[in-house]
Amino acid sequence: MRPLVADIDLDALRHNYQLACRCAPKSRSVAVIKADAYGHGALACAQALERDAPAFAVACIEEAITLRQGGVTTPIVLLEGIFSADELALVDVHGFWIAVHSQWQIDALLAATPSQPIPVWLKVDSGMHRLGFAIEEAAAIWRKLSAAPNVTALHLMSHFATADLQDSRYFNQQMARLQGLANELDAPLCLANSPATLAWPVAHGDWNRPGVMLYGSDPLEVANDITQQLQPVMTLRSEVIAMRELEEGEPVGYSGRWRAPRRSRIAVVACGYGDGYDRHARDGTPVLVNGQRCAIAGKVSMDMLTVDVTDVPDAVIGSEVVLWGRASNGVILPVDEVARYCDTISYTLLTGVLPRAPRRYHGRSA
Ligand SMILES: Cc1ncc(COP(=O)(O)O)c(C=O)c1O
Repeated sequence: MRPLVADIDLDALRHNYQLACRCAPKSRSVAVIKADAYGHGALACAQALERDAPAFAVACIEEAITLRQGGVTTPIVLLEGIFSADELALVDVHGFWIAVHSQWQIDALLAATPSQPIPVWLKVDSGMHRLGFAIEEAAAIWRKLSAAPNVTALHLMSHFATADLQDSRYFNQQMARLQGLANELDAPLCLANSPATLAWPVAHGDWNRPGVMLYGSDPLEVANDITQQLQPVMTLRSEVIAMRELEEGEPVGYSGRWRAPRRSRIAVVACGYGDGYDRHARDGTPVLVNGQRCAIAGKVSMDMLTVDVTDVPDAVIGSEVVLWGRASNGVILPVDEVARYCDTISYTLLTGVLPRAPRRYHGRSA
């Protein structure tokens, strides 16, 4: 069998979730498990968190129904709400909570005849300029929804554009707009994503919405004491399937991007962009071979990548290779570090791992 697997440590997931809760002891934390739990498998992650998390968040009703069909009974909030009015019938049947960000969603909600009122999170645009009502119009909409018989558990929701940055100016502007509105309406709040959960207690609301930190990735521009306690959940693991000895100057892989600067040993690893590993990985991108840091040498191919193991004499066919996560000897290669070498963020690497890399679940929660 091809040796590539994505090992998922469900105990680490629970540890990270509990850390998010400890960051914000006065809030409840909805565990964001959209996009198949950032590539980790939404159903398995929901089952692992079910005892702790009072609610889950997904992007759309399809993701929520998959969880219900898997037996998850915890409340689930649809972060983008409904995509068409007929989804409201399913929202009602399954007891989902919905965000509303557009007037047509409100019209559909008020015209519907659900069997019971639907919990609603009113999304306001405090500066992200993606989804939500303008701050200036939000108060009137809030009052209308508060009075609507179809609506219950109304919350104000917003999303931060820069909570990950050290420069707090734009975050403070968003926060000031939200605080003004929240004071006027005396509204319960749901604002904080992972970076705001980790770094901005002022943004902690009745609910927070941590996502990427649950999977062990540090979203902050500059790590802090708490992010250093995060544990990697996914380990993308494979093996060396062939070894090459190269003379100085000989190239490796497509277009010969990497040339041996000395006599070199190259390990060929079963993992490529056809598995979701980022083809933009530069020469020098770190990889663990037998738990030792090595560097990618040459362009990533569809099914394979190549690593300079000249300084790892015990690297042989069958040696363990960790693309990110925790090696068998305990050494950790953070997905955030790999992302920097690929000019991307951990979110794209984690959500990008394809089904071709089977998920294998571990931990007491598995
Ligand atoms: C509306 C909303 N809330 C929360 C999150 C979670 O963000 P993060 O993964 O940065 O914690 C996201 C993620 O994209 C989101 O879109």
